[in-house]
This record gives sequence, C-alpha cells and structure tokens, in this order.
Amino acid sequence: MPWRNTSARFGTIAKFFHWTSAAAFIAAYVVVYYVIWFMDDTSVESMPVLNIHWALGLLVGFLVLPRLLWRMLEIQPKDPPGSPAEHRLARVAHWGLYGLLILMPLTGYIGTGAPTDFGVFTVTGFNETALFHWIDRFDLSWDAFEAPIDVVHHFVGKWIAWGVVALHVAAALYHHWVRRDDVLVRMLPQSE
Ligand code: HEM
Ligand code: HEM
Repeated sequence: MPWRNTSARFGTIAKFFHWTSAAAFIAAYVVVYYVIWFMDDTSVESMPVLNIHWALGLLVGFLVLPRLLWRMLEIQPKDPPGSPAEHRLARVAHWGLYGLLILMPLTGYIGTGAPTDFGVFTVTGFNETALFHWIDRFDLSWDAFEAPIDVVHHFVGKWIAWGVVALHVAAALYHHWVRRDDVLVRMLPQSE
C-alpha cells in the first residue's frame, strides 16, 4: 500500500494518523465514562483506569502536530461530487475535528495535576512543569489555575465533542450507503 496520498486516495501515513487518533479518541471516551458511571472517581482504585484516559488523550495530542504537518505537506484527495456548500460544510467539520484533537488533550493535560504513566516512561503532570512554576510566580494557585480549564474540558467533552464525532461518522456512512461514492472506502486501512 503506497505511503503517500494521491489525488484519488489517502496513503498509509494519513490513514495511520486518522485511525490511530480516532481509536484513541473514542477509547478515551469509553474509559472516562466507565470511571464516571461505574466507579468512584475519587477512589484510589479509579486512578490506574483514569491513567488510561490520560495516556490515550496524550497519545492523541502527540499525534496531532505531525498529522497537521503531514496534511499541509501532502496532496489531498479530490473532493467527491457535491455542491460548493457541501464542500464548505465538510471543510468546516474537518477543521472542527482538528480543533477538538488539539483542545481536548491540551485542556486535559494542563488541567490535571498528576503524572501520566505510559509504563515505559512517565509524562510529568503540568503542575510540576517549569512552565507552571513560571505561571505560579503570578501568585496563581494550582486550584485557581486548573478550575476554568477543567470547566472547558468537561463542558466540551460532555456536550460537544461526541456530537461532532457522531455527525462525522454519520457523514462518512451517508457517503458510503446513500451517495455510494468512495469517500469512506479511500480512508479504510485495506483500500488500495
Ligand atoms: C482525546 C483527548 C481527550 C478526550 C476526548 C477527553 C474527554 C473527556 C471527557 C468526555 C471527560 C468527562 C467529562 C464529563 O462528563 O464531565 C473527561 C474527563 C477528564 N479528563 Fe479527559 N479527555 C481527553 C484527554 C485528557 C487528557 C490528556 C487528560 C490528562 C492528562 C485528561 C484528564 C481528564 C480528567 C482528570 C477528567 C475528569 C475525570 C473525572 O471526572 O473523574 N483528559 N475527559
Ligand atoms: C468510526 C469512526 C470514523 C469514521 C468511519 C471516519 C471516517 C472518515 C473519513 C471517510 C474521512 C475522509 C473524509 C474525506 O475524504 O474528505 C475522515 C477524515 C477525518 N476524520 Fe474521521 N472517521 C472516524 C472517526 C474520527 C474521529 C473519532 C476523529 C477525531 C476526533 C476523526 C477526525 C477526522 C479528521 C480530522 C478528518 C479530516 C482529514 C483531512 O481532511 O485532513 N475521525 N474520517
């Protein structure tokens, strides 16, 4: 399977970025709501499970910059047939998704005062970083700093992000089953 995109289809690298981020994003949701719905999220037992949420979220964050760089450098497959308004809507939706791929890991990370354990290495909690120690000089306590950031993370996570993703998936299925074009197929891992 070719690594690079052509004007007709996505290459392996674009597919790798898409499907790894999509799987980690959806799994981050599943894990955090498992904790919220089925565990006591203040208990010690919930910490290793929440750590999975943090690790999946950070993975999404690590991938988004190289992904955007690759997107800017690479040729993009041609838009499928459709009206200019539909093409505009698709572009807005895709940039909205990129916005979420940045906003959710960022607000999650800078709003959480705990390290994330990846097994082979650990990512320091934002409260322990030099950047936060610098912010701290303005007499801002960790609690005062993280509260508004948590509000954004929880609000967007609870009310917005899943809806945008659901519309995105519905649009992909609409293209496949109703329009019967190749929009979904050219993003699938096994497609040529
Ligand atoms: C793909 C990225 C991420 C997504 C989609 C995501 C999504 C969510 C959602 C949906 C919630 C629950 C909101 C609610 O109903 O109140 C949540 C809570 C939370 N997230 Fe994330 N998150 C991401 C990344 C991160 C990262 C990187 C961290 C920290 C390193 C983090 C830390 C937290 C914490 C501490 C909570 C609170 C859990 C609790 O209530 O016990 N998140 N996140
Ligand atoms: C089962 C779930 C999913 C399916 C079936 C799916 C399907 C697709 C398809 C077919 C495309 C190509 C659209 C085109 O050629 O114009 C695409 C692009 C994209 N998807 Fe998904 N997707 C899924 C999940 C996700 C998730 C969870 C995210 C992020 C939160 C996401 C973010 C994106 C982005 C940002 C693009 C734009 C790529 C670009 O044009 O640069 N997708 N998706």
